[in-house]
Amino acid sequence: MITLISAVIFCFLTSALAQQTCSTEGQFTAAAGYYVFSWSLQSNGMYVDCNVSVNTANNTWVAVGFSENQIMPDTDVIIGANDGTDEFVDDRWNGADRRAGPSLDPMQNIMDTSTIRDGNRLTIMFTRPLVSPDTSGRDENLDVCRYVLWAFGGTTTFENGDVTALGGHSNRGVFPNQLCLCATPTPTETPTPTETPTSSAASVANVAVLTFIFIFIAAIF
Ligand code: HEM
Repeated sequence: MITLISAVIFCFLTSALAQQTCSTEGQFTAAAGYYVFSWSLQSNGMYVDCNVSVNTANNTWVAVGFSENQIMPDTDVIIGANDGTDEFVDDRWNGADRRAGPSLDPMQNIMDTSTIRDGNRLTIMFTRPLVSPDTSGRDENLDVCRYVLWAFGGTTTFENGDVTALGGHSNRGVFPNQLCLCATPTPTETPTPTETPTSSAASVANVAVLTFIFIFIAAIF
């Protein structure tokens, strides 16, 4: 009996601790190319400033993707390059066909874009709204948790300053933790006083109560 009760309580404790906490700024890193994706939520809670940096050859691109899952298709992509002469940062979308690579979004929903090329180190910067006005399905809103995909090392071809072709990545992957930004609820999403809290404080309270129940039951048996 006590084993069963312990198992049930352990499941509760594990799920309480596993709840995602949100962040206003942070970074994810991958060993390959010393890839770093960092973010900082603006104080208005509506826009996020992003920075992506990696060691990669002059004529190659770097990208970050936001997705509901951990595979390349159906991913919102921001991709850019700087070969010392030409540069670009685009809002793109990975469709169903991996080999096609990311296609340009007709509606660009990034702002304040810039790039830096410092020897082997390529950095792209951009700002994007958490909730995109692009409702065509080619952007993922960041007011809920999203997987973050990383990729770099594909060749970039420029013609007259415009990108005309992107080659496949030399390295790619998915960060283990999801990106969970502390989004400001829109007026229609304002939680009512009766709504269950999901903050980390609530998680700690859950754990404390369940631990107390566990100790109480253990004392009885
Ligand atoms: C021209 C651009 C691209 C091409 C041609 C391409 C092509 C491919 C192909 C053929 C695969 C399967 C083989 C493999 O595992 O390597 C793949 C996998 C993958 N790609 Fe890409 N890709 C491109 C851009 C991107 C971008 C921009 C991202 C994310 C920011 C990305 C993320 C991934 C990931 C995470 C996988 C492994 C998971 C999966 O198979 O879905 N790719 N890609």
